[in-house]
Amino acid sequence: MQYSQIVLDHFMHPHNVGKLENPDAEATEGSPACGDQVTMFLKVNPETKVIEDIKFLSYGCASNIATASIITDLAKGKTLDEAKKITWQQAMEELGGLPPVKVHCAVLAVDTLQSAISNYEIAHGLKEVPNFGKDTIIEELRKIIYPKVGEDIVTLKMVKYVGFNDGEVIIDLNLMNFDQWRDNIAEEIREHLKKYAEIKNIQINFPDSQAT
Ligand code: FES
Repeated sequence: MQYSQIVLDHFMHPHNVGKLENPDAEATEGSPACGDQVTMFLKVNPETKVIEDIKFLSYGCASNIATASIITDLAKGKTLDEAKKITWQQAMEELGGLPPVKVHCAVLAVDTLQSAISNYEIAHGLKEVPNFGKDTIIEELRKIIYPKVGEDIVTLKMVKYVGFNDGEVIIDLNLMNFDQWRDNIAEEIREHLKKYAEIKNIQINFPDSQAT
């Protein structure tokens, strides 16, 4: 597997590793794709809302450590609003790219940063706890990467339909049964959605088979 020199540098000498004592916010996220976890800690200036310090702990692979390292560099010194604009696509560009099967590792790192920022904003009354709905489900689907090409399944138009009614989620996926990643994608969708108490049942449909 080919890694850029930037990825290797950040993996071997990661920046901002560790735990912050008494952080103003923190978040832990896990990747359903591989079972790895990342935690991020923030210190935020209450007046200016600038991220004055940020650290991370990763139980992930080289790509995940390198991404967490580079995005913590990017976020430090930025306001919360500026840091919210950091995306996994930007992180990958900064790293000089990642192999498609490793894109989910970058998504996990960026997702953890965004969760820590969101936790800060909720705790400080800067935003409401978002209402659960169809948009929440679509946001989760945007975190699921099709490993062959390293893009998310929404962007790749693999999601044909999402419905949510009375705890029932229905998702139609445009994936045929000869697609070797189909079962993994369905499993990952279930993993991503099971943390929501609002969801009681998930039905995933494919064009050429019964629902799973
Ligand atoms: Fe788990 Fe990369 S394989 S974070």
